[in-house]
Amino acid sequence: MNVKKNPILAADLLTHETGQFKWRMGVRPLNLNNWLIVDDERGADLHEIRNLIDSRRNQVVYSEPDAASACQELFEEIHFHLKERTGFVNLEVEGRSDRPAIESARRIVQEDLCVLQKRPAGWTMTACAVAIPTQWHVPSKFGETLDDIHGPVPRYGVDLSRPMGIFFDRLRPEKSVWRSNFTLTDDPNLRLIPNRRNHPLLHNVTKDNVADQVLLRVEYQTLRRLPKSDAIVFTIRILRQKIRSVAANPPALASLLRTAFNFPSDVASYKDSTRRYAELVSEWALSNGLIEDSDIH
Ligand code: HEM
Repeated sequence: MNVKKNPILAADLLTHETGQFKWRMGVRPLNLNNWLIVDDERGADLHEIRNLIDSRRNQVVYSEPDAASACQELFEEIHFHLKERTGFVNLEVEGRSDRPAIESARRIVQEDLCVLQKRPAGWTMTACAVAIPTQWHVPSKFGETLDDIHGPVPRYGVDLSRPMGIFFDRLRPEKSVWRSNFTLTDDPNLRLIPNRRNHPLLHNVTKDNVADQVLLRVEYQTLRRLPKSDAIVFTIRILRQKIRSVAANPPALASLLRTAFNFPSDVASYKDSTRRYAELVSEWALSNGLIEDSDIH
């Protein structure tokens, strides 16, 4: 199989925020060559993802009858993309008539997939195949609107609800976008189970081992409007990097710490592991002279 090495690192995708905390849309134009990221973890990732789908299909795959043509269009787009843009010569096709198209699509990419369609109540997730969420409960989002999906996110209503609705209405097929979210975690698994952010996996993380025990986990998210069905596709690709490796990019390290130290208390408790590990990471980085106090406060 002809797999190109992924040149994109998690730290490269951080947004550099300044000033008072606010959730931002943070969308940037997407070069379609970077829609789906293929790297040399593909074989291992797909093995794990297919096992997750097979063992817990009802918690991963959802597809309303009205979403079938959008999911088929997405499957064809993915197939085209993998063949034409990433240089796959022997593409295994997991399409089978007894599988929903969204599942067939999910089995051949490293990205989680969500399909949204406009309904009277707003943009609604009418299909998805999400195997490796970052600490959220997937089935509770099946068939829900963007506002309901983001219910647990503090300040979503104030910062994002309205701009999101306008943005989704205006998104055009020829103007796809990407954005990112980040998390600091001690959990090396692809799938982070819900409600774990307040319960560290490890109990022995200190300033001296945090650089190797904690990962920066970035959700590289893309949004595309499908021209035939008019649905919107949201992809989430997980990229992970040990803190020691992130530290090779001091501006990125300083930026993520600055953002975490800027969280107001409700956001800090929502992003609990991120805020807590930011303390240890900053102690480690300051004591090793990798950053200065003025870089992060
Ligand atoms: C421009 C589009 C979007 C923006 C600006 C946005 C923004 C956000 C933000 C700021 C968070 C909190 C993340 C954090 O932990 O740092 C979040 C969480 C989340 N987002 Fe989005 N989002 C977008 C699109 C979507 C879409 C299309 C879906 C699914 C269809 C989605 C599903 C979620 C879920 C499930 C969570 C976690 C909620 C939980 O904790 O239960 N987002 N989003």
